[in-house]
Amino acid sequence: MARLKVGARLKVGILISGRGSNMRALIAACRAPNFPAEIVLVISNEPGAAGLGRAKDAGIATRVIDHRGFNKERPAFERALTAALTEAGVEFVCNAGFMRLLTDTFVSHWRDRLINIHPSLLPAFRGLDTHKRALAAGARLHGCTVHFVRVAMDEGPIIVQAAVPVLAGDDEAKLAARVLAAEHRCYPLALRLAAEKRLRVEGERCLIDGAPAQEAVLMNPPPILG
Ligand code: GRF
Repeated sequence: MARLKVGARLKVGILISGRGSNMRALIAACRAPNFPAEIVLVISNEPGAAGLGRAKDAGIATRVIDHRGFNKERPAFERALTAALTEAGVEFVCNAGFMRLLTDTFVSHWRDRLINIHPSLLPAFRGLDTHKRALAAGARLHGCTVHFVRVAMDEGPIIVQAAVPVLAGDDEAKLAARVLAAEHRCYPLALRLAAEKRLRVEGERCLIDGAPAQEAVLMNPPPILG
């Protein structure tokens, strides 16, 4: 995979389209003095994205690159994204609720330096409406995944996952809130691991140097004794 510079804090760009709560979790994590990454640019393809104001409030540089200005020319839109990221010195990109499909133009350029968060335990429930679909399927565990981006939607080596229980009485909003809280913990962890250069992609699986083993079994419902 592409080599990242040793020593300095990793310069990160975030791509958003909406409210940007994962972006805020990343910004908050990067504020810690010993965090090995810093956010240098937030780009939104949506001029009205609420996350833009939140990034500005946090003192982060923002850009709007509206895909509609590119006459449906995805590669041209993606070249504009890469140009803005490169100009800002970005070394690593986090998609955080970025609602545009990316083609090979972008994905190849940023290969193994581009990650995404998805609100399901991939490879289950790729695409949209994941919480609704998990409820409809009667899943007892649901969750989120941070993964390296590949051209196929919601595919790519998995870095971090968190599982949450699906509880009786859950509706889409309750389940989404439980998953979102887990997302806000997973995404900073994945970025930290990347910035510490502890991730290796081999054969489209991501290996984590020094990750402690966790043998606990997650069960929902929990085992009933007696
Ligand atoms: C999150 O659920 C993320 O997993 C998905 O889009 C949503 C973005 O939410 N890709 P936010 O903009 O980070 O609040």
